Amino acid sequence: MCGIIGYVGPRPAIEVILPGLRRLEYRGYDSAGVAVLEGGELQYDRAPGRLSVLEGLLAGRPREGTVGVGHTRWATHGEPTEANAHPHLDCTGRFALVHNGIIENHAVLKDRLVREGHRFGSYTDTEVIVHLVESSYRGDLEAALRAALDEVEGSFAVAVLCRDEPDRIVAARRNSPLIVGLGDGAQYLASDVPAILPYTRKVLYLEEEEMATLTREGVALRRLDGTAVHRTPTTVDWDMEAAEKGGYPHFMLKEIHEQPEAVRATIGGKTDRSRLRRLFGGLGIEAETLQHVERVVVVACGTAWHAGLVGKCAIEDLAGIPTQCEIASEFRYGAPVLGRDTLVVAVTQSGETADTLAGVRRAREAGAPVLAVCNVLGSSVPRASEGVFYTHAGPEIGVASTKAYTTQLVAMTLLATYLGLQRGTLDRQRAGRVLRAVGGLPGALREALAADAMVQECARRFQDSRTFFYIGRRYNLPTAFEGALKIKEIAYLHAEGYGAGEMKHGPIALVDPGLTAVAVFSEGATHDKMRSNVEEIRARGGRVVAVAPADDAEAARVADFVLPVPRVDEVVSPVVNVVPLQLLAYHMAVLGGRDVDRPRNLAKSVTVE
Ligand code: M6R
Repeated sequence: MCGIIGYVGPRPAIEVILPGLRRLEYRGYDSAGVAVLEGGELQYDRAPGRLSVLEGLLAGRPREGTVGVGHTRWATHGEPTEANAHPHLDCTGRFALVHNGIIENHAVLKDRLVREGHRFGSYTDTEVIVHLVESSYRGDLEAALRAALDEVEGSFAVAVLCRDEPDRIVAARRNSPLIVGLGDGAQYLASDVPAILPYTRKVLYLEEEEMATLTREGVALRRLDGTAVHRTPTTVDWDMEAAEKGGYPHFMLKEIHEQPEAVRATIGGKTDRSRLRRLFGGLGIEAETLQHVERVVVVACGTAWHAGLVGKCAIEDLAGIPTQCEIASEFRYGAPVLGRDTLVVAVTQSGETADTLAGVRRAREAGAPVLAVCNVLGSSVPRASEGVFYTHAGPEIGVASTKAYTTQLVAMTLLATYLGLQRGTLDRQRAGRVLRAVGGLPGALREALAADAMVQECARRFQDSRTFFYIGRRYNLPTAFEGALKIKEIAYLHAEGYGAGEMKHGPIALVDPGLTAVAVFSEGATHDKMRSNVEEIRARGGRVVAVAPADDAEAARVADFVLPVPRVDEVVSPVVNVVPLQLLAYHMAVLGGRDVDRPRNLAKSVTVE
């Protein structure tokens, strides 16, 4: 859960590394460091805290070296201190190494290396790798890194510099992302595309068990077993604007407002039956396999899991296929009963979430077809899956997931509709209504966003609440979970997502004037039930904010405050109902002076367990 960047070229490497680290900070930001090769020596600088601390340090210590690596860390082993920040050096100061991932057998390796006389300077799992490189080095950095990685278990994206080979960076990956950018007389290395986008659009995605050697002249790819790899670079078509804030004070707010366009990109054109068939026909899983699916298991974490819960409702309603939605960190260690007739759907924004990836591998081993629903092109989960539906939400930088979520919801609804049509469980009229509702989502989202000023007012009125209960039913129970997660993660307010009908089985005892219930009304059978649940809370002194269509007189009658949303088909209502909840969390966070885009203790992609 860290960010890596490397540069070899004609410029001082720091000029590329520091802005690159800034664009990688979403991967972790508790300490940062750089190393450059300068005058035949390795110079390194590290600092705990945000990147600005390192930048301040370097302002007083200009570094001119034109080959270098940088790292932004999210601690897993060892506190976020200067000593534990990367890069790590060997005993002789000949090698500097940065790493993203976890070395699971680091304790055993460290014991052995200490017995052999190595001195350790940190409490990280990473440091063993640089000492292993030191032990194996016989004048060939590539061979030494290969030998070192042969001994480690776990996950890594690593990059290493060597004083004796000052023209190169050698890098490798296993279960952690790494890309190479190809320039003219300069090459780049990074955990993710935005870091190198200002310099090049020609990218090589490193595959599992591959390594790369970067020199000014070019890049050589090999497998970790030493065999050469030839790969045509991919041209990335994101523009830099898309990865920057575009005039909004925070990435999160920008991404909330991007949802109409993001959802339009997910839909990708007309929403009719023939297009749906073409779309799902080209995802990599045979139409026949999908037609004979007996069961669906959705595997995901966090917000993506909430999208999976909505997907469960839609798949059961529209396709009549029994569906369960599993938290990936549980699924991977359970005893799931899977086979070729179970479709596993892995939902993930980043495609790098360690638990989701492990779940996918587990499912593939059991012979189940796996469909990834993912935003990041070429990331690990789609590559480990049989088929992939890309949501095309564009880069999501804010740690709190927003547009990734709504686009996942759209993907799940389209999947449910497709499965229903394929299996003949969904009649054409109903399919047509659902597809029209999906097609209308960009407009409905714009309407929901137009109520931002009211949401801001609501945040002001309710920010003093001691606790929040987000309640929902059916399609909008996951909306309640998601609203509660948002306010917890960025505003640091206590909140729980709960089934509205469950309140009376315990939590209603907590209701007093310090409790605010945020009630997400659904159309259909549960609407009146929700109204009764809200009245029960009001009768006990609790305050109620309703998310409901502006013309819902019943909701307006029972609530203290209404956050209005457009009236849409219940199947797609989670897409619009979550918008005021995202905005509510955002405004509460701003009012509380929180660091909206980089909430404490969190990182964007959880690439470790
Ligand atoms: O990249 P993924 O979608 O796999 O990430 C899963 C979760 O870590 C993520 O949704 C997390 O819960 C978000 N920060 C919530 O806003």
